[in-house]
Amino acid sequence: MRPVELSKNVYWVGAVDWLTRDFHGYSTERGTTYNAYLIIDEKVTLIDTVKSGCGQELMHRIRNVIDPKKIDYLVVNHVEMDHSGSLPQVVREIQPERIICSKMGQKALLQHFHQPDWPYHAVAPGEELRLGEKTLSFLETRMLHWPDSMFSYLKEDQILFSSDAFGEHLASSERFDDEVNQDVLMHEATKYYANILTLYSPIVKKLIAQVENMHLPLKMIAPDHGIIWRKNPGKIIEAYSRWCVNESNGKALIIYDSMWHSTEMMAKSIAGGLQDKGISYKLLNLQVNHHSEVMCDVLEAGAVILGCPTLNNGLLPRMAGFLMYMRGLRPTNKIGAAFGSYGWSGEAVKLMNTAMSEMNFRLVHPGLRVQYVPEHGHLQECVELGHTVGQALLDAKAGDKAA
Ligand code: FEO
Repeated sequence: MRPVELSKNVYWVGAVDWLTRDFHGYSTERGTTYNAYLIIDEKVTLIDTVKSGCGQELMHRIRNVIDPKKIDYLVVNHVEMDHSGSLPQVVREIQPERIICSKMGQKALLQHFHQPDWPYHAVAPGEELRLGEKTLSFLETRMLHWPDSMFSYLKEDQILFSSDAFGEHLASSERFDDEVNQDVLMHEATKYYANILTLYSPIVKKLIAQVENMHLPLKMIAPDHGIIWRKNPGKIIEAYSRWCVNESNGKALIIYDSMWHSTEMMAKSIAGGLQDKGISYKLLNLQVNHHSEVMCDVLEAGAVILGCPTLNNGLLPRMAGFLMYMRGLRPTNKIGAAFGSYGWSGEAVKLMNTAMSEMNFRLVHPGLRVQYVPEHGHLQECVELGHTVGQALLDAKAGDKAA
Protein backbone atom coordinates (compact mmCIF):
# COMPACT_ATOMS: atom_id res chain seq x y z
CA MET A 1 0.00 0.00 0.00
CA ARG A 2 2.89 2.36 -0.76
CA PRO A 3 2.19 5.66 -2.46
CA VAL A 4 4.26 6.46 -5.56
CA GLU A 5 5.99 9.82 -5.98
CA LEU A 6 5.40 11.52 -9.35
CA SER A 7 7.49 14.59 -8.53
CA LYS A 8 8.49 16.32 -5.32
CA ASN A 9 5.51 16.33 -2.95
CA VAL A 10 3.11 14.89 -5.54
CA TYR A 11 2.01 11.27 -4.97
CA TRP A 12 -0.18 8.66 -6.63
CA VAL A 13 -2.41 7.30 -3.84
CA GLY A 14 -5.12 5.50 -5.86
CA ALA A 15 -6.34 1.90 -5.90
CA VAL A 16 -5.63 -1.05 -8.20
CA ASP A 17 -8.65 -3.17 -9.06
CA TRP A 18 -7.38 -6.56 -10.25
CA LEU A 19 -10.85 -8.12 -10.16
CA THR A 20 -13.20 -6.07 -12.30
CA ARG A 21 -14.08 -7.63 -15.66
CA ASP A 22 -16.96 -5.43 -16.74
CA PHE A 23 -17.24 -1.67 -16.97
CA HIS A 24 -20.80 -0.81 -18.03
CA GLY A 25 -20.68 -3.42 -20.80
CA TYR A 26 -16.99 -2.94 -21.66
CA SER A 27 -14.93 -6.07 -20.94
CA THR A 28 -11.95 -5.26 -18.72
CA GLU A 29 -9.99 -8.51 -18.71
CA ARG A 30 -6.86 -6.75 -17.44
CA GLY A 31 -8.70 -5.06 -14.54
CA THR A 32 -8.28 -1.33 -13.95
CA THR A 33 -7.07 1.32 -11.54
CA TYR A 34 -8.79 4.29 -9.95
CA ASN A 35 -6.10 6.91 -9.69
CA ALA A 36 -6.02 9.61 -7.02
CA TYR A 37 -3.21 12.09 -6.41
CA LEU A 38 -2.00 13.84 -3.27
CA ILE A 39 -0.20 17.20 -3.32
CA ILE A 40 1.64 18.25 -0.18
CA ASP A 41 1.81 22.03 0.16
CA GLU A 42 0.51 24.71 2.53
CA LYS A 43 -2.93 23.61 1.37
CA VAL A 44 -2.74 19.83 1.17
CA THR A 45 -4.82 18.69 -1.79
CA LEU A 46 -6.28 15.36 -2.86
CA ILE A 47 -7.21 15.07 -6.53
CA ASP A 48 -10.03 12.57 -7.08
CA THR A 49 -11.02 9.56 -5.04
CA VAL A 50 -11.80 5.94 -5.88
CA LYS A 51 -14.65 3.50 -6.39
CA SER A 52 -16.76 2.39 -3.46
CA GLY A 53 -15.06 -0.56 -1.78
CA CYS A 54 -11.57 0.81 -2.55
CA GLY A 55 -11.74 3.67 -0.04
CA GLN A 56 -9.64 1.91 2.60
CA GLU A 57 -6.85 1.27 0.06
CA LEU A 58 -6.85 4.98 -0.76
CA MET A 59 -6.80 6.00 2.90
CA HIS A 60 -3.92 3.60 3.72
CA ARG A 61 -1.82 5.09 0.92
CA ILE A 62 -2.62 8.64 2.07
CA ARG A 63 -1.68 7.72 5.66
CA ASN A 64 1.73 6.58 4.42
CA VAL A 65 2.34 10.22 3.40
CA ILE A 66 0.28 12.37 5.77
CA ASP A 67 -2.53 12.32 8.30
CA PRO A 68 -5.69 12.47 6.12
CA LYS A 69 -7.17 15.08 8.45
CA LYS A 70 -4.48 17.49 7.18
CA ILE A 71 -5.98 17.46 3.67
CA ASP A 72 -7.52 20.88 3.00
CA TYR A 73 -8.79 20.65 -0.55
CA LEU A 74 -10.49 17.77 -2.30
CA VAL A 75 -10.67 18.16 -6.09
CA VAL A 76 -13.40 16.20 -7.89
CA ASN A 77 -12.50 16.18 -11.59
CA HIS A 78 -15.34 13.79 -12.44
CA VAL A 79 -18.40 12.54 -10.55
CA GLU A 80 -18.92 9.09 -12.13
CA MET A 81 -19.05 6.46 -9.37
CA ASP A 82 -15.72 4.82 -10.27
CA HIS A 83 -14.10 8.03 -8.99
CA SER A 84 -16.64 9.21 -6.45
CA GLY A 85 -18.08 6.03 -4.92
CA SER A 86 -15.84 6.40 -1.87
CA LEU A 87 -16.49 10.15 -1.55
CA PRO A 88 -18.87 10.02 1.45
CA GLN A 89 -16.29 7.95 3.38
CA VAL A 90 -13.40 10.21 2.32
CA VAL A 91 -15.26 13.43 3.13
CA ARG A 92 -16.20 12.01 6.54
CA GLU A 93 -12.60 11.05 7.32
CA ILE A 94 -10.74 14.11 6.01
CA GLN A 95 -13.38 16.81 6.51
CA PRO A 96 -12.02 19.02 3.73
CA GLU A 97 -12.17 22.80 3.89
CA ARG A 98 -13.25 22.84 0.24
CA ILE A 99 -14.58 20.36 -2.33
CA ILE A 100 -13.42 21.80 -5.63
CA CYS A 101 -15.31 20.89 -8.80
CA SER A 102 -16.83 22.39 -11.92
CA LYS A 103 -20.22 24.08 -11.76
CA MET A 104 -21.77 21.01 -13.38
CA GLY A 105 -19.74 18.89 -10.95
CA GLN A 106 -21.40 20.57 -7.98
CA LYS A 107 -24.83 19.84 -9.44
CA ALA A 108 -23.89 16.20 -10.14
CA LEU A 109 -22.42 15.73 -6.64
CA LEU A 110 -25.67 17.01 -5.10
CA GLN A 111 -27.68 14.64 -7.33
CA HIS A 112 -25.47 11.68 -6.40
CA PHE A 113 -24.89 12.15 -2.67
CA HIS A 114 -27.63 14.56 -1.57
CA GLN A 115 -25.33 16.45 0.80
CA PRO A 116 -26.18 20.17 0.50
CA ASP A 117 -23.89 20.99 3.46
CA TRP A 118 -20.63 19.79 1.91
CA PRO A 119 -18.19 22.73 1.38
CA TYR A 120 -18.50 22.96 -2.43
CA HIS A 121 -16.30 25.38 -4.31
CA ALA A 122 -17.21 25.50 -8.02
CA VAL A 123 -14.34 26.77 -10.14
CA ALA A 124 -14.66 28.68 -13.38
CA PRO A 125 -12.78 27.40 -16.46
CA GLY A 126 -9.21 28.73 -16.33
CA GLU A 127 -9.44 29.62 -12.63
CA GLU A 128 -6.19 29.29 -10.67
CA LEU A 129 -5.83 28.21 -7.06
CA ARG A 130 -2.66 28.81 -5.03
CA LEU A 131 -1.82 25.88 -2.77
CA GLY A 132 1.35 27.50 -1.37
CA GLU A 133 4.38 26.90 -3.54
CA LYS A 134 2.29 25.13 -6.17
CA THR A 135 -0.63 26.33 -8.27
CA LEU A 136 -3.54 24.38 -9.69
CA SER A 137 -5.61 25.58 -12.62
CA PHE A 138 -8.77 24.04 -14.02
CA LEU A 139 -9.94 23.34 -17.55
CA GLU A 140 -13.57 22.47 -18.13
CA THR A 141 -13.84 19.34 -20.32
CA ARG A 142 -17.60 18.79 -20.59
CA MET A 143 -18.57 15.37 -21.95
CA LEU A 144 -15.08 13.92 -21.50
CA HIS A 145 -16.63 11.86 -20.11
CA TRP A 146 -19.66 13.49 -18.47
CA PRO A 147 -21.01 17.06 -18.33
CA ASP A 148 -19.21 17.58 -14.99
CA SER A 149 -15.72 16.56 -16.19
CA MET A 150 -12.72 18.84 -15.86
CA PHE A 151 -8.90 18.60 -15.96
CA SER A 152 -6.61 20.02 -13.27
CA TYR A 153 -3.14 21.29 -14.16
CA LEU A 154 -0.30 21.63 -11.66
CA LYS A 155 1.64 24.53 -13.07
CA GLU A 156 5.04 24.29 -11.36
CA ASP A 157 5.33 20.51 -11.89
CA GLN A 158 3.74 20.62 -15.37
CA ILE A 159 1.41 17.71 -14.60
CA LEU A 160 -2.01 17.45 -16.25
CA PHE A 161 -4.52 15.47 -14.16
CA SER A 162 -6.75 14.43 -17.05
CA SER A 163 -9.55 12.45 -15.36
CA ASP A 164 -10.97 9.84 -17.79
CA ALA A 165 -9.08 11.14 -20.86
CA PHE A 166 -5.79 9.46 -21.88
CA GLY A 167 -6.47 6.49 -19.57
CA GLU A 168 -6.72 2.72 -19.96
CA HIS A 169 -8.33 -0.09 -18.01
CA LEU A 170 -5.12 -1.81 -16.97
CA ALA A 171 -4.28 -3.13 -13.51
CA SER A 172 -0.53 -3.37 -12.97
CA SER A 173 2.13 -3.14 -10.28
CA GLU A 174 3.79 -0.45 -12.42
CA ARG A 175 2.55 3.12 -12.50
CA PHE A 176 4.38 4.71 -15.44
CA ASP A 177 4.37 4.36 -19.23
CA ASP A 178 8.08 3.47 -19.40
CA GLU A 179 7.58 0.52 -17.04
CA VAL A 180 4.93 -1.48 -18.95
CA ASN A 181 4.72 -3.47 -22.19
CA GLN A 182 4.07 -0.90 -24.93
CA ASP A 183 1.86 -3.17 -27.07
CA VAL A 184 -0.39 -3.98 -24.11
CA LEU A 185 -0.48 -0.32 -23.12
CA MET A 186 -1.48 0.94 -26.57
CA HIS A 187 -4.01 -1.87 -27.06
CA GLU A 188 -5.73 -0.93 -23.81
CA ALA A 189 -5.53 2.81 -24.61
CA THR A 190 -7.10 2.12 -28.03
CA LYS A 191 -9.82 -0.05 -26.53
CA TYR A 192 -10.53 2.64 -23.93
CA TYR A 193 -10.90 5.38 -26.55
CA ALA A 194 -13.01 3.13 -28.79
CA ASN A 195 -15.45 2.19 -26.02
CA ILE A 196 -15.58 5.37 -23.95
CA LEU A 197 -14.67 8.33 -26.13
CA THR A 198 -15.48 7.61 -29.81
CA LEU A 199 -18.84 9.33 -29.43
CA TYR A 200 -17.09 12.46 -28.18
CA SER A 201 -14.43 12.64 -30.92
CA PRO A 202 -15.51 16.13 -32.10
CA ILE A 203 -15.05 17.38 -28.52
CA VAL A 204 -11.66 15.63 -28.22
CA LYS A 205 -10.59 17.34 -31.45
CA LYS A 206 -11.54 20.78 -30.10
CA LEU A 207 -9.89 20.08 -26.76
CA ILE A 208 -6.59 19.03 -28.34
CA ALA A 209 -6.57 22.23 -30.43
CA GLN A 210 -7.40 24.28 -27.32
CA VAL A 211 -4.60 22.69 -25.26
CA GLU A 212 -2.13 23.18 -28.14
CA ASN A 213 -3.12 26.86 -28.33
CA MET A 214 -2.53 27.25 -24.61
CA HIS A 215 1.08 26.02 -25.05
CA LEU A 216 0.93 24.26 -21.68
CA PRO A 217 4.31 22.75 -20.87
CA LEU A 218 3.58 19.10 -20.18
CA LYS A 219 5.94 16.81 -18.28
CA MET A 220 3.32 14.26 -17.33
CA ILE A 221 -0.27 13.28 -18.05
CA ALA A 222 -1.83 11.66 -15.01
CA PRO A 223 -5.23 10.14 -15.87
CA ASP A 224 -7.69 8.52 -13.49
CA HIS A 225 -7.31 5.03 -15.01
CA GLY A 226 -4.20 3.03 -15.79
CA ILE A 227 -0.66 4.30 -16.13
CA ILE A 228 0.83 7.79 -15.88
CA TRP A 229 2.46 9.14 -19.06
CA ARG A 230 5.83 10.49 -17.91
CA LYS A 231 8.31 9.35 -20.56
CA ASN A 232 6.24 10.03 -23.62
CA PRO A 233 3.00 11.99 -23.03
CA GLY A 234 3.19 13.01 -26.71
CA LYS A 235 2.52 9.39 -27.70
CA ILE A 236 -1.02 9.34 -26.31
CA ILE A 237 -1.77 12.88 -27.54
CA GLU A 238 -0.67 11.85 -31.05
CA ALA A 239 -2.91 8.75 -30.87
CA TYR A 240 -5.91 10.84 -29.71
CA SER A 241 -5.24 13.30 -32.56
CA ARG A 242 -5.60 10.42 -35.05
CA TRP A 243 -8.56 8.74 -33.38
CA CYS A 244 -10.61 11.92 -33.01
CA VAL A 245 -10.54 12.55 -36.79
CA ASN A 246 -11.49 8.92 -37.57
CA GLU A 247 -8.33 8.22 -39.53
CA SER A 248 -8.67 4.90 -41.42
CA ASN A 249 -6.06 2.14 -41.40
CA GLY A 250 -7.41 0.84 -44.72
CA LYS A 251 -8.34 -2.55 -43.25
CA ALA A 252 -11.67 -4.40 -43.40
CA LEU A 253 -13.67 -6.16 -40.68
CA ILE A 254 -16.24 -8.87 -41.33
CA ILE A 255 -18.35 -8.87 -38.19
CA TYR A 256 -20.97 -11.59 -38.17
CA ASP A 257 -23.07 -14.15 -36.37
CA SER A 258 -24.34 -17.38 -37.91
CA MET A 259 -27.09 -19.88 -37.12
CA TRP A 260 -26.29 -23.00 -39.19
CA HIS A 261 -23.01 -21.83 -40.84
CA SER A 262 -24.59 -20.43 -44.05
CA THR A 263 -23.76 -16.84 -43.12
CA GLU A 264 -20.33 -18.03 -41.98
CA MET A 265 -19.70 -19.60 -45.42
CA MET A 266 -20.63 -16.25 -46.97
CA ALA A 267 -18.27 -14.42 -44.58
CA LYS A 268 -15.35 -16.63 -45.61
CA SER A 269 -16.02 -16.08 -49.32
CA ILE A 270 -16.21 -12.29 -48.80
CA ALA A 271 -12.84 -12.57 -47.03
CA GLY A 272 -11.53 -14.33 -50.15
CA GLY A 273 -12.64 -11.36 -52.25
CA LEU A 274 -10.83 -8.94 -49.93
CA GLN A 275 -7.74 -11.15 -50.10
CA ASP A 276 -7.84 -10.97 -53.93
CA LYS A 277 -7.62 -7.19 -53.64
CA GLY A 278 -4.72 -7.36 -51.18
CA ILE A 279 -6.79 -5.96 -48.29
CA SER A 280 -5.90 -6.88 -44.74
CA TYR A 281 -9.02 -8.09 -42.90
CA LYS A 282 -10.32 -9.76 -39.75
CA LEU A 283 -13.22 -12.19 -39.40
CA LEU A 284 -14.95 -11.44 -36.10
CA ASN A 285 -17.68 -13.87 -35.08
CA LEU A 286 -19.74 -12.23 -32.33
CA GLN A 287 -20.13 -15.61 -30.61
CA VAL A 288 -16.46 -15.55 -29.62
CA ASN A 289 -15.51 -11.85 -29.80
CA HIS A 290 -16.77 -9.47 -27.10
CA HIS A 291 -18.43 -6.36 -28.55
CA SER A 292 -15.96 -4.07 -26.76
CA GLU A 293 -12.98 -5.88 -28.36
CA VAL A 294 -14.73 -5.64 -31.72
CA MET A 295 -15.16 -1.88 -31.22
CA CYS A 296 -11.42 -1.64 -30.61
CA ASP A 297 -10.92 -2.89 -34.20
CA VAL A 298 -13.77 -0.75 -35.57
CA LEU A 299 -12.07 2.43 -34.29
CA GLU A 300 -9.48 2.52 -37.08
CA ALA A 301 -11.00 0.13 -39.66
CA GLY A 302 -11.72 1.46 -43.14
CA ALA A 303 -14.60 -0.94 -43.87
CA VAL A 304 -17.19 -2.74 -41.76
CA ILE A 305 -19.01 -5.65 -43.41
CA LEU A 306 -21.86 -6.99 -41.28
CA GLY A 307 -23.30 -10.49 -41.62
CA CYS A 308 -26.33 -12.00 -39.90
CA PRO A 309 -29.10 -14.46 -40.79
CA THR A 310 -32.75 -13.52 -40.26
CA LEU A 311 -34.38 -14.76 -37.06
CA ASN A 312 -38.10 -14.09 -36.38
CA ASN A 313 -38.16 -11.27 -38.96
CA GLY A 314 -35.19 -9.63 -37.29
CA LEU A 315 -31.56 -10.14 -36.28
CA LEU A 316 -29.82 -12.69 -34.09
CA PRO A 317 -29.63 -11.13 -30.61
CA ARG A 318 -25.82 -10.77 -30.58
CA MET A 319 -25.89 -8.72 -33.81
CA ALA A 320 -28.85 -6.65 -32.54
CA GLY A 321 -26.93 -5.91 -29.32
CA PHE A 322 -23.74 -5.11 -31.19
CA LEU A 323 -25.55 -2.68 -33.50
CA MET A 324 -27.14 -0.94 -30.54
CA TYR A 325 -23.73 -0.63 -28.85
CA MET A 326 -21.94 0.56 -32.01
CA ARG A 327 -24.69 3.05 -32.85
CA GLY A 328 -24.31 4.58 -29.39
CA LEU A 329 -20.58 5.11 -29.96
CA ARG A 330 -21.12 6.51 -33.48
CA PRO A 331 -17.92 5.60 -35.32
CA THR A 332 -17.70 7.50 -38.61
CA ASN A 333 -15.81 7.50 -41.91
CA LYS A 334 -16.48 3.82 -42.69
CA ILE A 335 -17.28 1.95 -45.87
CA GLY A 336 -20.13 -0.52 -45.19
CA ALA A 337 -21.85 -3.58 -46.63
CA ALA A 338 -24.17 -6.30 -45.30
CA PHE A 339 -24.92 -9.94 -46.02
CA GLY A 340 -26.77 -12.91 -44.55
CA SER A 341 -28.73 -16.07 -45.17
CA TYR A 342 -32.46 -16.41 -44.57
CA GLY A 343 -35.26 -18.96 -44.70
CA TRP A 344 -38.43 -17.15 -45.88
CA SER A 345 -38.66 -13.48 -44.88
CA GLY A 346 -35.05 -12.21 -44.93
CA GLU A 347 -35.15 -8.82 -43.17
CA ALA A 348 -31.69 -8.96 -41.56
CA VAL A 349 -29.68 -7.41 -44.40
CA LYS A 350 -32.06 -4.47 -44.69
CA LEU A 351 -31.91 -3.91 -40.92
CA MET A 352 -28.09 -3.88 -40.93
CA ASN A 353 -28.03 -1.53 -43.94
CA THR A 354 -30.43 0.84 -42.17
CA ALA A 355 -28.28 0.86 -39.04
CA MET A 356 -25.13 1.60 -41.05
CA SER A 357 -26.89 4.34 -43.05
CA GLU A 358 -27.94 5.97 -39.79
CA MET A 359 -24.26 6.04 -38.79
CA ASN A 360 -23.39 7.63 -42.16
CA PHE A 361 -21.39 4.61 -43.29
CA ARG A 362 -20.88 4.73 -47.08
CA LEU A 363 -22.71 1.62 -48.36
CA VAL A 364 -20.92 0.36 -51.47
CA HIS A 365 -23.19 -2.65 -52.10
CA PRO A 366 -27.00 -3.05 -51.85
CA GLY A 367 -26.55 -6.10 -49.60
CA LEU A 368 -26.39 -9.81 -50.32
CA ARG A 369 -29.00 -12.38 -49.21
CA VAL A 370 -28.91 -16.14 -49.77
CA GLN A 371 -31.89 -18.41 -49.07
CA TYR A 372 -31.01 -21.30 -46.75
CA VAL A 373 -27.61 -22.67 -47.81
CA PRO A 374 -25.30 -21.01 -50.37
CA GLU A 375 -24.08 -22.99 -53.37
CA HIS A 376 -21.08 -22.21 -55.56
CA GLY A 377 -22.73 -19.35 -57.51
CA HIS A 378 -23.83 -17.62 -54.30
CA LEU A 379 -20.35 -17.89 -52.85
CA GLN A 380 -18.97 -16.34 -56.03
CA GLU A 381 -21.34 -13.38 -55.44
CA CYS A 382 -19.84 -13.11 -51.93
CA VAL A 383 -16.33 -13.02 -53.42
CA GLU A 384 -17.52 -10.20 -55.67
CA LEU A 385 -18.90 -8.31 -52.67
CA GLY A 386 -15.40 -8.63 -51.15
CA HIS A 387 -13.93 -7.26 -54.40
CA THR A 388 -16.33 -4.29 -54.31
CA VAL A 389 -15.47 -3.38 -50.71
CA GLY A 390 -11.77 -3.98 -51.34
CA GLN A 391 -11.81 -1.71 -54.39
CA ALA A 392 -13.65 1.00 -52.44
CA LEU A 393 -10.92 0.84 -49.78
CA LEU A 394 -8.19 1.10 -52.42
CA ASP A 395 -9.97 4.06 -54.06
CA ALA A 396 -10.34 5.80 -50.69
CA LYS A 397 -6.64 5.30 -49.99
CA ALA A 398 -5.71 6.68 -53.41
CA GLY A 399 -8.04 9.65 -52.78
CA ASP A 400 -6.41 10.32 -49.40
CA LYS A 401 -2.97 10.29 -51.03
CA ALA A 402 -4.09 12.65 -53.80
CA ALA A 403 -5.68 15.06 -51.31
FE1 FEO B 1 -13.75 6.69 -15.08
FE2 FEO B 1 -16.37 8.39 -16.55
O1 FEO B 1 -15.47 7.41 -15.23
